[in-house]
Amino acid sequence: MSVISVSSLTKHFNGIKAVDGVSFEVREGTIFGFLGPNGAGKTTTISILCTLLKPTSGTAIVNGYNCLTESAQVRSSIGVVFQDMTLDKDLTAYENLLYHAILYNVEKSKRERVVNDALKFMDLYERKDDLVKRFSGGMKRRLEVARAVVHQPRILFLDEPTLGLDPQSRNNLWEFITRLPNEKGVTIFMTTHYMEEAEVCQEIAIIDRGKIIASGSPDELKKTVGGDVIYLRTTDNEKALRIIREEMSLKGKVSGDELFITVSRGDACLPELIRQLGEMVKSVRVQRPTLNDVFLTLTGKEIRPETVDAADEVREAVRAYRRRFDRT
Ligand SMILES: Nc1ncnc2c1ncn2[C@@H]1O[C@H](COP(=O)(O)OP(=O)(O)O)[C@@H](O)[C@H]1O
Ligand SMILES: [Mg+2]
Repeated sequence: MSVISVSSLTKHFNGIKAVDGVSFEVREGTIFGFLGPNGAGKTTTISILCTLLKPTSGTAIVNGYNCLTESAQVRSSIGVVFQDMTLDKDLTAYENLLYHAILYNVEKSKRERVVNDALKFMDLYERKDDLVKRFSGGMKRRLEVARAVVHQPRILFLDEPTLGLDPQSRNNLWEFITRLPNEKGVTIFMTTHYMEEAEVCQEIAIIDRGKIIASGSPDELKKTVGGDVIYLRTTDNEKALRIIREEMSLKGKVSGDELFITVSRGDACLPELIRQLGEMVKSVRVQRPTLNDVFLTLTGKEIRPETVDAADEVREAVRAYRRRFDRT
C-alpha cells in the first residue's frame, strides 16, 4: 500500500524548474530515499509533501490526504526533521519534546509517557533534563528525530539528516533511524546526497535537476550499470579513451581526471587494457558498482561535484563554530 503518491509534480521559482514533473510512490513501512546532488530539488519536494510549499502543478497525496487541500490533516499525520536545526537551545531535551507534544494536541495525560518513550528510543533519556545547548551535534539530531515521532506520525520526513555530522555520529543516527519502521511502524522518506546512506533504503529515486532519472532498490539500480567499473588515470585520458573505444570496443567516459569504463568482469578485462594502453597507465582500480556509479553512468558526472557546495561548507563551518561556542 502506498502512503505517499506523487504525480507529475512541478515547482517553478521565477523560471527555475526546481521540481520538474516528478512522480513516485512510497510503500508503507519502508525507507524511501531521495538521492541527488545539491540543487536537485530534494528540499523543494519535501517542502511540498510537508505542505510548506504549494506546487506549481501536479498532485501529492500523503497518508491519503491531498497536500494542497487537506494540509492540516497532512501535517498532523507526519513528522519532519528539517535540513537545519530547529530545536530551542535554551530549553531542556524534555521541554523541547513536551512543547511539541502540546503543539500537536497530544492528550495531557499521555504527554509525559510519549515524550519519555521517544527520549528512551533515541537513547537520550539520561540527558532529558540537560539544556540542548550542551548537546553535541549528533545528540541534537537524535533529539530532533525523537521530537518528530512524539505525536506518533505515520510518516517521518528527514531532509539530509546527517549533514554536518562526523562519521561516528552519522552511523549512530542511522542505527536509530533504521529501527523506526519495524519498531514504531513509521514509513521514512529521506533525502541525502551521500550514496552510502541511500544503501539503507528499500527504494531509491535518483533526482537530478528536478527530474527523477532512475528508481528502484539499491541492487536493482546497481544492476543497471551492467557490471564492474574500472577507474583509470592515464597520461592522456582523451587518447586512452579513443584506444579503449576503437581497439577494445568498450564504453568509457572521462570524469574529472579519471576515465571510467563499465565492463561485465573487471578482472578479466584488465590484462588487455594494460596491454593496449601500456605506459600511459598511471593507476587502475576496479570497483563493484556503487550508487555513485549509477549516477555517473546516467549523468556523466559525480553526485557530489567538488565534494560539497559552498552553502554546505558555510553551514558546516557555522555549526562547528557554534559547537565550540556551546561548550564554553
Ligand atoms: N525559495 C526559492 N526561491 C528560488 N529558488 C529556489 C528556492 N528554493 C529552492 N530554489 C532553487 O531550486 C533548486 C532546487 O533546490 P532544493 O530543492 O533546495 O535542492 P536540494 O535540496 O536537492 O539541494 C535550486 O536551483 C535552488 O536554488
Ligand atoms: Mg536540500
